[in-house]
Amino acid sequence: MIGKTLSHYKVEELLGSGGMGVVYRAVDVRLGRSVALKVLKPELTANADRLRRFFQEAQSAAKVTHPAIAQIYDVGETDGMVFIVMEFIEGQTIRWLIMRQELDLLGSVEIALQVAEGLGQAHRSNIVHRDIKSDNIMVTKEGHAKLLDFGLAKLLDQPAGPPAEKKELPISQTLTMTQTMVGTVLGTVAYMSPEQARGHPASQASDVFSLGIVLYEMVTGELPFRGESALDTMHSIVFDEVRPVTIVRKNLPAELQRIIGRCLRKNPRDRYADANFLAEDLKRLKKEIESGTQSSLFRGHRIQDFLDRLKTAVPLQGKSLALAAVVLVIVVLVLIMNINWSILIGPLILGLLIYRYIRHRKRRLLNRFVSKAAKIQGVKAIAIRGDDITVVVEKAQANIYIRANSMIDALNKKLYFGHPVTLAIRDDLTREEFQRLLREPGISFVSNDVILESPEKPA
Ligand SMILES: Nc1ncnc2c1ncn2[C@@H]1O[C@H](COP(=O)(O)OP(=O)(O)OP(=O)(O)O)[C@@H](O)[C@H]1O
Ligand SMILES: [Mg+2]
Repeated sequence: MIGKTLSHYKVEELLGSGGMGVVYRAVDVRLGRSVALKVLKPELTANADRLRRFFQEAQSAAKVTHPAIAQIYDVGETDGMVFIVMEFIEGQTIRWLIMRQELDLLGSVEIALQVAEGLGQAHRSNIVHRDIKSDNIMVTKEGHAKLLDFGLAKLLDQPAGPPAEKKELPISQTLTMTQTMVGTVLGTVAYMSPEQARGHPASQASDVFSLGIVLYEMVTGELPFRGESALDTMHSIVFDEVRPVTIVRKNLPAELQRIIGRCLRKNPRDRYADANFLAEDLKRLKKEIESGTQSSLFRGHRIQDFLDRLKTAVPLQGKSLALAAVVLVIVVLVLIMNINWSILIGPLILGLLIYRYIRHRKRRLLNRFVSKAAKIQGVKAIAIRGDDITVVVEKAQANIYIRANSMIDALNKKLYFGHPVTLAIRDDLTREEFQRLLREPGISFVSNDVILESPEKPA
């Protein structure tokens, strides 16, 4: 396949393979950009009716655009090969990150939150993913989560059969049907919702269940339902109560267990109705972990949230205009009504103080960023020059990218004035470059174990 051109996509490199086909990196020669091209297994596309439904599903999936969803660009058929073209993601899958133990609690919650927000957008348009698992979520080098394969699971749909029959033989029948459909479905059953395992259609709440499993796996390193065979795993999904994450790993927050527990309820009606509700709880949990406070403070967080939203709701130009209008009104009032200037001194001073508070907001937010980022393990130094922040790390690990970038995103959202700040995470500085950075102005944090060498004098 390498070197071949399908339609106007030139195949360049094998990326991997899974249950539905083989994935390549290709170049869209018309637009000159890299894409991921998934060539589907012939047995999946042999049935014309199923293929037609798949193309329909791809059409609606392509309409979902969100930063946390890998965009579907195109579907096509060339020389009997059916392929799907999607956004090429440069990064690693969650499975890979879990195996390398690269995720910490906050990073895991941040990824789950990003995915829940993307999924929430799809759910609002009544689109269900059906195959959420740690292989189908990637994290880019910048720490952004990307959900893959939207709409593809439709290919695995069972041929329509009378639902009553499925109820009679929930487990074995589903398994037999699934096995005959796709040989490699075994890898996927661990993330199935109970209703999918029983052969019932998937809903938004099924995606919530599967995302709950991914979150469980990220924070514990283990899958909640495991059996020796696919049948055992599916039996466990349908009947077994899950071991709480707080028992599997000590020191995990009770609120995390509550959220995962709610995702993993057997009855879809007892779960979060869709990913948007899950995202709301994850957002609060993230704040709780970041600030180290307890759940009883959630009300305080809500007020803070509301204030933050209020502050960022009015665009910058609107604010400047409003300020100018207020000043103008005051001046006109003073002139027309012949008001004594001295009574304005108090409000004027107050106004100036408020203005100063707002102006210094960026500095305060940056200071807060530095004190939070300094606590991340592996951070050696932080330098701020203008709007550019450089974080020097021992080793550029996914959890550092995820956490630092989510902090910068939050910071930029809270800014009133000026440009947004940008972040560079560096693990590639030479000794000399690092020492130079330590001596330059703008250095805001240096870890205790870093030694500042005296500059070498030119001979
Ligand atoms: N859009 C993409 N950009 C970059 N790499 C990708 C992309 N899609 C898939 N990959 C890579 O290809 C590998 C195989 O993906 P594939 O979707 O075929 O397998 P899977 O997710 O394990 O199974 P399934 O077929 O059930 O989705 C992934 O693990 C990932 O490394
Ligand atoms: Mg996949």
